[in-house]
Amino acid sequence: MKEDFLKYQAQTTPHPLSLEVSHASGCYIYTTDDKKHLDFVAGVSACSLGHSHPKIVKAIKDQAGKYLHVMVYGEYAQAPAVELTKLLAAHLPDPLNKTYLVNSGTEAIEGSLKLARRATGRSEIIAARHAYHGNTMGSLSLMDFKERTKPFEPLVGDISFIEFNKESDLQKITTKTAAVILETIQGGAGFIIPTNDYLKKVSSRCKEVGALLILDEIQPGFGRTGKLFGFENFEVVPDIVALGKGMGGGLPIGAFSASEELMDLLMDNPKLGHITTFGGNPLIAAAALATLKEISETRIIPETLEKEKLFRKHLQHPLIKEIRGKGLMLALIMESAEIADRLILQAKEKELILFWLLFEKRAVRITPPLTISNEEIMKGCGIIVDILNKIKAGPGAVN
Ligand SMILES: Cc1ncc(COP(=O)(O)O)c(C=O)c1O
Repeated sequence: MKEDFLKYQAQTTPHPLSLEVSHASGCYIYTTDDKKHLDFVAGVSACSLGHSHPKIVKAIKDQAGKYLHVMVYGEYAQAPAVELTKLLAAHLPDPLNKTYLVNSGTEAIEGSLKLARRATGRSEIIAARHAYHGNTMGSLSLMDFKERTKPFEPLVGDISFIEFNKESDLQKITTKTAAVILETIQGGAGFIIPTNDYLKKVSSRCKEVGALLILDEIQPGFGRTGKLFGFENFEVVPDIVALGKGMGGGLPIGAFSASEELMDLLMDNPKLGHITTFGGNPLIAAAALATLKEISETRIIPETLEKEKLFRKHLQHPLIKEIRGKGLMLALIMESAEIADRLILQAKEKELILFWLLFEKRAVRITPPLTISNEEIMKGCGIIVDILNKIKAGPGAVN
């Protein structure tokens, strides 16, 4: 399979990890060589309830037996999407009570940007340095990293940048600004938490000048940081929130939510302000609904904070300089990028899945399924510490 994988399926790196997946269940991915890998990555924060959670599988099977795609977004009333958006409204703070369902995180960002420009009649979008919001042209244009964006220029216009957590930059938000878009917790940059009421200050500056605040919850959202939505940790309510990843419980989805007043602007001037064929797809919405119910009706969310403590307790090692993040969105900051690489690659050999972050090369991602057990956490931490002990002891001691 690996040969065909490399030959026929488009690759994005010369050396993909290339695990040959046989099946997956709970916190484990099983490979065709009969290995059982403990998953500390969850498909990059996507499989919030682990792999093939029985309630998600049941919801998918039930829906598949009724109907699949029947119409483009927004024309027919279909129970899974209606119930999902209604339940989201019940959980989101006022006035975020209307949700547009799309197909991916990046499309949720595109929709949010369009809505902000449409609502304010302004064009300038302000994003943060080292942000990651996705890879389609609009989202990519929010990435202030020339090495990655230059080959795709010209990018979307009138986008400028501020430094995350830097208060003096807030003066750059002016009456020309349509929206400021931020990740609630910066992901690719190294799991950077907003400090010193930063998000509140951004929000109040936006209000002062009539700009909208868009928060990207695509990674921190859906229970990963001890609240259903990461922004609830920072006492701020955005004008538009972008959702995705863990929302689908392992199926592809994105969404953006705003007030009814804002969202209804997509109905005119122009009519059909955002169009998608498969957004709100009944199979995907059924999976997302089952995910949201399970996350919100159990103790999964508060338990993420207990599990964070366990990780922090069992991941003390001289080569780990810092553990950043919140809940089950954690990043180990190693002494060097080289040590991060060695840890990730050696962990793979020991059947523990770890992964990189996009920009912070010294970081090792720990974003397991929210359902991970204490025993699994301790088992994985034990593997990490063993590997680091060997790395520390020197080259002869590795293996
Ligand atoms: C914060 C954030 N925003 C947006 C995206 C894009 O989501 P997708 O890959 O579903 O388009 C990601 C994906 O990694 C993300 O982490």
